[in-house]
Amino acid sequence: MESPYASALHDPSQASETSSLETLVNEKHRLRLHFHRVQHGKHVKPDFYNSASTKRGKTFRTSFRYLQGLNKKQVDDFMASYVIYNLDWSDEKQMVEALGENYQEKVGDCLKAYYGIINHLCALGDVEKMYIPPLMSKKATVLENQLLYEESIARDIGLKPGDRVLDLGCGRGRVAAHMAQFSGVQVIGLNIDSNQVAQARTFNDECCLQNAFIVQDFNDLPLPFADQTFDAFYQIQALSLCKDLPALFNEIYRVLKPGARISLLDWASLPSYDPTNPEHAGLMRRVKPLIGAKALTGSGFTVLRSDNASVGGLQAPLIKTVDLYFRTVRHLILGLVKVRILPRHFKTLINRLCLDGEAFVKMDTQRLATTSYRIIAQKP
Ligand SMILES: C[S@@+](CC[C@H](N)C(=O)[O-])C[C@H]1O[C@@H](n2cnc3c(N)ncnc32)[C@H](O)[C@@H]1O
Repeated sequence: MESPYASALHDPSQASETSSLETLVNEKHRLRLHFHRVQHGKHVKPDFYNSASTKRGKTFRTSFRYLQGLNKKQVDDFMASYVIYNLDWSDEKQMVEALGENYQEKVGDCLKAYYGIINHLCALGDVEKMYIPPLMSKKATVLENQLLYEESIARDIGLKPGDRVLDLGCGRGRVAAHMAQFSGVQVIGLNIDSNQVAQARTFNDECCLQNAFIVQDFNDLPLPFADQTFDAFYQIQALSLCKDLPALFNEIYRVLKPGARISLLDWASLPSYDPTNPEHAGLMRRVKPLIGAKALTGSGFTVLRSDNASVGGLQAPLIKTVDLYFRTVRHLILGLVKVRILPRHFKTLINRLCLDGEAFVKMDTQRLATTSYRIIAQKP
């Protein structure tokens, strides 16, 4: 299959001497940090030097301004988009009944309306990369845990300078930038939301990285890449919204080179979850899972590792931190809306955002479900 994006893919053999030198310097620095950490016991702090982290103040201001300028239709579409989370995406009959014959298009529209706003709401807090990471270190912050987890992906899928890596549901391209800076790879990110893709491009250009970003719905197959294009693949909490996992994994398999490794992080229900228990079912409706290793082996991948990536299997301390932060921000926003410093739609948005935090914490602490389920697999 010929890829329409062939020109967007960086050819590592064209890399200049300067960038090779830079890679070498970065590599030395990374080894030094690694040695330092090993010498001093636990891996607590990430490699900030190679993290491509954003400046919090600038990110906050940009997202705040974006949210301030939203019109009524955008806010209404965002609120209406939640309808899709109450539906069973694998039940075609139910989808047609709820959304009509063109339900796939409607789901796409809802996802765009949802993520187009939620990415900016998340950026008001410590989750500009729209995911709560596995708890990698109890001493680290949410952002540091994200970096530590992303470093662990790079190790698990064996990234090396010059590799081409695919990232599905790439958010605002911050993870891609971290991967490129940390491992010297080129990431191709794919996202349904053009707003996030635009931000990903700007940010990666500013960091002088060769990463490329494409607007595409990953439910719209085939993927726009030639066979055996990529050396590795990762996705972070994006595939729970996939319509047909086996079909997508077949595609991922096709575009990977033999021997390539993949890393997945997503929601999974745990053995204590009982769907006949009304409390469990109610919580589950609010946090909406699932992904399993079955679809992977069906596509020909060999699963190398399949576990909860959080220390002690509990992600709750990080979810609580994020939840507390947003609930505090909510109080502030409600106060500012009341005295008419902020437009009314801020109240609608922040109330919706804070609604399900508690359900997440409960699901995690009762070990009913997790959003930090990790699968590492390999194409033979
Ligand atoms: C929960 S966020 C995960 C965070 C993200 N991996 C990051 O790097 O920030 C899910 C991401 O997947 C994207 N996404 C959701 N459904 C998608 C689809 N059908 N096709 C492409 N991207 C999708 C969203 O726009 C969002 O950026």
